[in-house]
Amino acid sequence: MNDFIFHNPAKVYFGKSQMEHLSEELLKFGKRVLLVYGGGSIKKNGLYDLIVRQAKDNEIELFELSGVEPNPRHTSANKGAEICKKENIDVILAAGGGSVIDCAKGIAAAALTDSGDVWELVSNSVFVEKALPVIAVLTNAATGSEMDAWAVISNMDTNEKMGLNGSALFPKAAFENPEYSFTLSEYQTACGVFDIFNHVIDNYYFAGEATFGLTLEMQEAVMRCVVKYAPIAMSEPRNYEARANLMWASTMALNGVLDAGTLHGAACHMLEHELSAYYDITHGHGLAIVTPRWLEYILDEKTAPAIARLGERVFDIPKTANAMDDAKKAIAALADFCFNTLKLKGTLTDLNIDDKHFKDMAKHACFGSVISGPKTLSPDDLEKIYRMCL
Ligand code: NZQ
Ligand code: ZN
Repeated sequence: MNDFIFHNPAKVYFGKSQMEHLSEELLKFGKRVLLVYGGGSIKKNGLYDLIVRQAKDNEIELFELSGVEPNPRHTSANKGAEICKKENIDVILAAGGGSVIDCAKGIAAAALTDSGDVWELVSNSVFVEKALPVIAVLTNAATGSEMDAWAVISNMDTNEKMGLNGSALFPKAAFENPEYSFTLSEYQTACGVFDIFNHVIDNYYFAGEATFGLTLEMQEAVMRCVVKYAPIAMSEPRNYEARANLMWASTMALNGVLDAGTLHGAACHMLEHELSAYYDITHGHGLAIVTPRWLEYILDEKTAPAIARLGERVFDIPKTANAMDDAKKAIAALADFCFNTLKLKGTLTDLNIDDKHFKDMAKHACFGSVISGPKTLSPDDLEKIYRMCL
């Protein structure tokens, strides 16, 4: 097991009655608030009205940036940064899914730079140590952005989608009321679910000797929880227990807890970010298409026992003496979860994606080098995995 430092400063208010603390958290930073949201889902589920009411009751002055895109663009973050500079904003309130929260973090960082251009930070891999405070109200169980220090920003002019990281990007507080996720469509629920699942296997699960028992068991608990509650949330969107479990799983999957003492990988995420950079697809769906193929590609005598363990612990596949056979069953069970339980279309061809950009995408995905993980992957390997997804 590896040594580790665990530090996560984000405060989480979880549950049905916690929104009453929103104004108290905002007022810690000031009265001039930029509310950032997406295409209008918060107007349909009542969250927008609640925020406006609390602002009014507490003499908070609200400014707005709406229309943040799924796969948030650098141009939206720059627009927000401009408002922050012009209006002397004290704190940013993000209300929505990962895209809105990521855009808010991008705004928060860019607002404190001279240029106000988030892409300058992203493209230079600047570690953000200075940013305006962000408070998040989460409406989609998926990315973990509510309690992590990352923002993923897209530049559609250059077909690039990259992470911005930094200690200043942890939300100061995150509000998680599972009721606000009742209005998610079946499709978005499924995509969010697979993002959560993938954060565990992609980032941490195959760390081998670098990890330790407790972390491994906690990772499996999160994946089992997702497998159990996803079909319930899809068939009964207003099931509080299912939505609450998924929401907390989203947060736990990427807030550093499951990271303790392990190694990082994220091959599927690197592969997927290229897909959404070129084709603007939904992140979790791209991951669902890539992940079973990635496992198939990395399967060999060395990786088989860990993949077999995934099958046994998460999908209840009985262990036999043949790890290779067990691993193949595990991959089949995962594909069944993605394409039958979650009802996600199973190939890139289904999403009208062909092999036109695979070479470039493979090169970008590993920054012209390799991706490490249970098996080191070169651009050639990555291109082969894309082809398996057609
Ligand atoms: O825009 P609105 O109207 O809010 O609608 C959104 C959007 O259309 C809708 N939605 C969200 N909550 C809803 C709802 N619809 C009805 N009811 C609700 N309660 O769902 C659609 C997708 O929302 P989005 O925020 O894009 O989804 P998600 O939360 O999956 O975020 C995806 C983005 O986060 C990045 C992804 O790459 C992608 O850009 N990620 C961020 C990470 C991070 N910051 O750590 C890590 C992840 O791996 C990921 O890369
Ligand atoms: Zn993800």
